[in-house]
Amino acid sequence: MNQLLDKSASRVRRMFATIAPRYDLLNHLLSCQVDRYWRWRAARIARQVRGPLLDVCTGTADLAIALARRTPHDTAVCGVDFCGPMLRLARRKLERLGLEHRIRLVEADALCLPFPDATFGLVTVAFGIRNLEDLDQGLKELRRVCRPEGRLAILEFSQPRRQPWAAIYQWYFRNVLPRVGQWIARNEDRAYEYLPSSVKEFPCGAGLAARLEQAGWRHVTFRPLTGGVATLYQARA
Ligand SMILES: C[S@@+](CC[C@H](N)C(=O)[O-])C[C@H]1O[C@@H](n2cnc3c(N)ncnc32)[C@H](O)[C@@H]1O
Repeated sequence: MNQLLDKSASRVRRMFATIAPRYDLLNHLLSCQVDRYWRWRAARIARQVRGPLLDVCTGTADLAIALARRTPHDTAVCGVDFCGPMLRLARRKLERLGLEHRIRLVEADALCLPFPDATFGLVTVAFGIRNLEDLDQGLKELRRVCRPEGRLAILEFSQPRRQPWAAIYQWYFRNVLPRVGQWIARNEDRAYEYLPSSVKEFPCGAGLAARLEQAGWRHVTFRPLTGGVATLYQARA
């Protein structure tokens, strides 16, 4: 197996545990802050839904926070991640922002969520779905915990197709990002080489839309953001 693309739970958890202290800094730096806009686009959907909200692969909880800020105070928000160090940083961030009573953080695997069927009105995943060891199982599990008519929003990196943007992006993604990432967040798992490699092999656009439909999601749509660097997928349960 290509070790760089090993998505076993132990490897992915260890990789994020090692880069956790530098994760937010690198996110904002390497995306030139555009990641904030992408999460804002995903969080806007929360205004159209009812019921508790679930952010899976929440990491340091940026999307969960964006969801909480766009919904009434009595809307419950839950963030799930299986990496303890990422959740510890998330917890500290919530305390700093006074949101610790608003957002509940749960340590769990996205492939086996600790919630009954049909619990949430909106389920979101930002830059996490690509890391799942079993994508189809993950998409079904998200569907299971979503209420009938509930919504799904997935943000994930994709590959720009139009030139010259595609060439510039490929150069940046292959040459600049892994070096800056490794320099700032030294780690044995080569997390910032894993990032471009995993994006390259991951189904994007129509490919992921088809997998969502196979997992039982309906009305699947997708919209490329920032020239296709990221894509926002939406669907209904
Ligand atoms: C790239 S980070 C994204 C974090 C956050 N959503 C954001 O937008 O910055 C991916 C996160 O997914 C988590 N993750 C990956 N696979 C997971 C799984 N099977 N179950 C739960 N969390 C998982 C990792 O621990 C990591 O915190």
